[in-house]
Formats: sequence, C-alpha cells, structure tokens
Amino acid sequence: MRTVLTYGTFDLFHVGHLNLLNRARAHGDQLIVALSTDEFNLKMKNKVTAIPYPDRKKILEALRCVDLVIPENNWEQKIEDVLKHQVDTFVMGHDWEGKFDFLNEYCEVVYLPRTENISSSEIKTHISKGRTTQIKAAV
Ligand code: CTP
Repeated sequence: MRTVLTYGTFDLFHVGHLNLLNRARAHGDQLIVALSTDEFNLKMKNKVTAIPYPDRKKILEALRCVDLVIPENNWEQKIEDVLKHQVDTFVMGHDWEGKFDFLNEYCEVVYLPRTENISSSEIKTHISKGRTTQIKAAV
C-alpha cells in the first residue's frame, strides 16, 4: 500500500484542484490531503479563505481520490506528518518546485504540473471585477 501526501488550501474548489488531486492519487494507493486551516492561511499566507475549513474539508472528503484529510497548522509539520502516516510520496504543484526537496530524506518528492488559467485567486478577481465572460475552460 503506497501512501501519497499533499498540502494546500483548496479554497473555492476548482478543476485545477481536482486535476492535481487525481494526479497525486495516481502515484499511490491512498491519498492524504493536509488542508491549510483558516488561521494558518491568515497568519502565514496573509489570505482570508472564502470558504471555512470545515466546509473545505467536507468537499475534499467527498472526493473518490481523497482518503483522509488532516489539518495543516504550520510550515514545520511536514516531516512529522510523513513519518506519522508512513508516507511514500509527497506531491505538490510545480509552483513549489524545489521547495520541499529536504523531504527526499524521508520519502519520494514529486512536483506535478499545474492546470493553466485557473486558481482560487483568479476566481475571486473574476467575481470582484464583475467580469461578464467565463473563465477559460481548462478541460
Ligand atoms: N493547483 C494546480 N493547478 C491550479 C491551481 C492549483 O495544480 N490551477 C494545485 C497547487 O499547485 C497545489 C494545490 O492545487 O498543489 C492546492 O493549491 P491552492 O494554493 O490551494 O490553490 P490555488 O488555486 O493555486 O490558490 P491561490 O490562487 O489562492 O494561490
């Protein structure tokens, strides 16, 4: 049984998130998502999540490709999470390329391509600017 672990906020869940999670899951037999808490986002990333943690968690747990959701409370928990959950592969989108290579000591580290033209920030901007066109389809 190979266990895969990934981290993220997954606010305003979109197809880029789904693609990433499906690709991550394909690297093993079970996928754990460490979901950034609202407090972590605010304090460490200076971002207010539109959707509260319990609701973001509920959406992730409903996905076929996700087996377990755990909280991401700080930047330093990764080694502990990898050891605790006996993780074989750590996956992140390529916007984080190289940033987590220190985990190579504990598990395989894989950076996956991002889906183009979509992000939570893009959706927020799109709505706040009152755009009348759709966001370009990613699939
Ligand atoms: N992701 C992706 N393709 C996208 C958007 C996100 O593959 N178009 C991946 C990220 O690389 C990350 C995971 O999805 O591994 C969670 O990303 P997150 O930061 O929560 O989503 P974003 O949409 O990038 O959010 P923001 O715009 O706030 O940065």
